[in-house]
Amino acid sequence: MLKIKSSAPGKLMLFGEHVVVYGYPCIVTSVDSRIYVEVEKEKKFKIDAPQVKDLRFVEETVKQFCKKYKVSSKILLKTYSDFSSKFGLGSSSAVTVATIKALCKFYKIEISKKEIFDLGYKVVLSIQKVGSGFDVASAVFGGTIYFVTGGKIIESLSVKNLSLVIGYSGVKADTTSIVNKIGSKIKDQRSKTLNIFENMKHIVEEAKVSLVNSDWEKTGELMNQNHKLLQELGVSTEKLDVMCQVAISAGAYGAKLSGAGGGDCMISIVPENKTKSVKSAIINAGGEILNVKINI
Ligand code: MEV
Repeated sequence: MLKIKSSAPGKLMLFGEHVVVYGYPCIVTSVDSRIYVEVEKEKKFKIDAPQVKDLRFVEETVKQFCKKYKVSSKILLKTYSDFSSKFGLGSSSAVTVATIKALCKFYKIEISKKEIFDLGYKVVLSIQKVGSGFDVASAVFGGTIYFVTGGKIIESLSVKNLSLVIGYSGVKADTTSIVNKIGSKIKDQRSKTLNIFENMKHIVEEAKVSLVNSDWEKTGELMNQNHKLLQELGVSTEKLDVMCQVAISAGAYGAKLSGAGGGDCMISIVPENKTKSVKSAIINAGGEILNVKINI
């Protein structure tokens, strides 16, 4: 029996979280942890996806794909994952994209990466209601990309040898509620919030240059500035702040939370010879090191 397998990577936000929801740019990189989807013919639609926390992403993808391309949904769809959904590495968008890619292969339908992004983003938005689509783009395009809301710009960046240490705070973030909190903030404290957004936009533009130029010292400094603005937005936590501080004290060029905030991960950019001490410092502060490779 014909079995088709496809996969998509998880992601880490490098710069510009939250502002990217409102028409601004961000920079995101993919990780080497992937979600795999296998498709084969069945008498009726069945899913075997024990690691997927929210099956709606798979169900909705199959529904929208089969409707759009007029193909049967009588398939068995199995998923496998390299990573837990608890880390905030974008498992929902990765499973959505891997499902679209597997269905394209299974039905021999050729569509462009942008078309995969558009369909994936539509699925993710129909479920989450909020979101910029940066995670979907990362799962489709991989590598490090400069991304503007809804895929208005998706630009691959040539970034080499970026050395990150990633720490998980031990707390699962609720992205949707934090994004909604920022939505209320825009209404209640409009000029202050928009001022933070403008500052963050400049940081993203500068980071785009420093990353491509392998200027890690400058990139670290920009991470610190980005983290400070996220603190001002009210999305950081004491644990994330401490993890960032100890990483810097142990020799990192800079550190910031990565993603919506409220938990999940922090990232630090680290000189090669300081990797060990930064990792120990994060562990001593109660964090868990994520051993994933980036920019894949
Ligand atoms: C969440 O990881 C990043 C946010 O910018 C939301 C989004 O862009 O969809 C907060």
